[in-house]
Amino acid sequence: MSTGSGFSDGPKPTPRPVPGCRPIRSFVLREGRLTAAQARALATLWPRFGIDWVPGEALDLPALFGNDRPVVLEIGFGNGQSLATMAEQDPGRNWLGIEVHRPGIGHLLLEIERRGLTNLRVLRQDAVEVLRTGLSPGALDAVQLFFPDPWPKRRHHKRRILNSELIELLARVIRPGGIFHAATDWPPYAEQMLELLEDARDWFVNTAGPGQYAPRPAHRPLTRFEQRGERLGHPVRDLIYRRLPGQTGR
Ligand SMILES: C[S@@+](CC[C@H](N)C(=O)[O-])C[C@H]1O[C@@H](n2cnc3c(N)ncnc32)[C@H](O)[C@@H]1O
Repeated sequence: MSTGSGFSDGPKPTPRPVPGCRPIRSFVLREGRLTAAQARALATLWPRFGIDWVPGEALDLPALFGNDRPVVLEIGFGNGQSLATMAEQDPGRNWLGIEVHRPGIGHLLLEIERRGLTNLRVLRQDAVEVLRTGLSPGALDAVQLFFPDPWPKRRHHKRRILNSELIELLARVIRPGGIFHAATDWPPYAEQMLELLEDARDWFVNTAGPGQYAPRPAHRPLTRFEQRGERLGHPVRDLIYRRLPGQTGR
């Protein structure tokens, strides 16, 4: 692992190679247009706040943050606005964002600079791969997954990031007593999430009570995709589960 090499030379998200199989990923990598400010942020701020991670290497979180405070991971932070707000409001914890979309990463780096944050680091990777090989058991205080791509077409459901493999990976990396928090504005996905998480009762307990969605917690800022969903009249569901002690995941 290294920090400090130029972003453009840094690794691209790397799916786990399975011989003879195309990996099913939860994202489609579109480069997207960078604004001049985002391009500048990627060139100048990535060396400080970005993590050049090679799949298979264990991330040394205390070394990356310069302290051993609890770490919250956000998977798929989009433009990072809500992640930056949460990191600013909770300076006693470290915040790690994983995203594959370069303009969104550039946007978050600009937010880190604008707000003078020191407790936020960024990875450009497939988050599933980072959970599989980059984190040690119990390394995280919490994981948040806000408005993941719903992949509404039936033939695309296999791309939904929240599946039984992800739950096993989360069970391994979230410390006992730690939190997994998901939110979605796509009711069929919310139902699937609820079913999968209720089935994982050896590892997780629903903080809202069995089979219940959680009230929206005040600490979760409105995200960009949530605002879009609200304009379209989509109902938002939060799911908040606590990791039980014992029974390790993968
Ligand atoms: C619908 S957007 C939601 C963004 C943000 N959480 C929000 O609520 O505004 C989902 C984001 O997850 C990212 N994403 C999807 N799969 C991912 C993965 N395996 N690893 C990292 N990011 C991923 C996508 O690039 C996209 O930006």
